[in-house]
Amino acid sequence: MANFPKDFLWGVACAAYQCEGGWDADGKGRNIWDDFCHEVNGHHVKNDDSGDIACDTYHRIDEDIALMKAHGIRAYRFSLSWARIIPDGDGPVNEDGLEYYSRVVDKLIESGIEPMVTLFHWDLPSALHYKGGWLDRDIVEAFARYARIVAARFAGRVTKFMTINEPQCIAMLGYGEGLLAPGYKLPDEDVARIYHMIALSHSAAQREIKAIIPDAQVGIVPCGELYYPEADTPENREAAYRASFDLSVARWGFHFNVCVDELFFHGYDDTAPEAVKRFMATVPETDWAQMEKPDFLGLNIYNGPAVDAGGSIVKRRRGAPLTACKWPITPEVLRHGPINMYRRYNVPVYISENGISCNDVVFLDGQVHDPKRIDFLHRYLLELSKAIAEGVPVLGYLQWSFLDNFEWTSGYDERFGIVYVDYDTLRRIPKDSARWYKEVIETNGANL
Ligand code: NOJ
Repeated sequence: MANFPKDFLWGVACAAYQCEGGWDADGKGRNIWDDFCHEVNGHHVKNDDSGDIACDTYHRIDEDIALMKAHGIRAYRFSLSWARIIPDGDGPVNEDGLEYYSRVVDKLIESGIEPMVTLFHWDLPSALHYKGGWLDRDIVEAFARYARIVAARFAGRVTKFMTINEPQCIAMLGYGEGLLAPGYKLPDEDVARIYHMIALSHSAAQREIKAIIPDAQVGIVPCGELYYPEADTPENREAAYRASFDLSVARWGFHFNVCVDELFFHGYDDTAPEAVKRFMATVPETDWAQMEKPDFLGLNIYNGPAVDAGGSIVKRRRGAPLTACKWPITPEVLRHGPINMYRRYNVPVYISENGISCNDVVFLDGQVHDPKRIDFLHRYLLELSKAIAEGVPVLGYLQWSFLDNFEWTSGYDERFGIVYVDYDTLRRIPKDSARWYKEVIETNGANL
């Protein structure tokens, strides 16, 4: 049996571009994902799919919130489309866009579901991108203003905010490796610059939100590779900790401490690559006084490699379990990831995302049976409860995702939802896992 704290927040998560659709509705501006998907001959996304319609949550939010309520969901982490609220990113406000989110917040509260607002989940307004986007220092003020506008509208109704989702995917995958929008392949020094701009933007937004909503809790949501010990010994745990935050690796930008170390420690340790050190040497001293420590960290954790006591990655056994998108299934990372993040930063955490893509189908009986997802979530939650038992303040768990949705460059081929979406009819069919998760919530995890 697993133990979760009395007021543990059980919820689900999604992001604007992945589920809303309504890509040009009611005055919304374009963002870099609209552009990336629409680019003629771009072929960035599987089947040339786009988020134009996605789950059409923009028009079906009432139905979706009712379905959440029916499944006992207590919190909904959702992102706002910056370009829906401020079409060009730093100009006039689109009242219709802001009003839409205001209604979502009201509806959630009315339904007993706590809104957890993510300000930025990758869909940068195109106009800002063409002015330099995350490479340009002006983005800090634009983001701060956006945060101010949102906080002013949500004051009295929302207290939990996440500023920026996965800086690692924005900087490293979007600007360094070119896999995500805007699809650039810039050198490491530029990638380091983007991390720095994100750290400054987070900090400015945190200040703005707290000035307007003094009891707000503001966090940032890192991701990447977290390692877990192959054997549960003190030496092996230490090796997993060190490996998790060691930046002297080729994909240095895909570690959880990138960007976050700037907020907490005002820089990186000696393991940082030369290019990063070169960039850091150009940072004006005054920037460090601007950094704000988040009140909590949102951790997006899906998998991670095991390391041995010497810190080397342990090869997985042949035929080890994988998800539909071929990600390794490694439940232990949901124990040791939070333990190591708490050890390093000493602030409470939310599991802001965790889940699995499965090849879900509608069975002859009209239902969607997804025992693999149930088994995955069960195993991961058991591991999470061990981190809690060791004293890590885990405040909540937000399953990714409520609905199947647009999985970035994989388009609609990957299904992460506990609710199935038929993309032709947009009909929603709760999967077995949705009913199972309802029981987990009702028993506060005691049924695990
Ligand atoms: C992390 C991202 O935040 C989210 O947008 C994505 O869909 C999930 N991981 C699954 O890949």
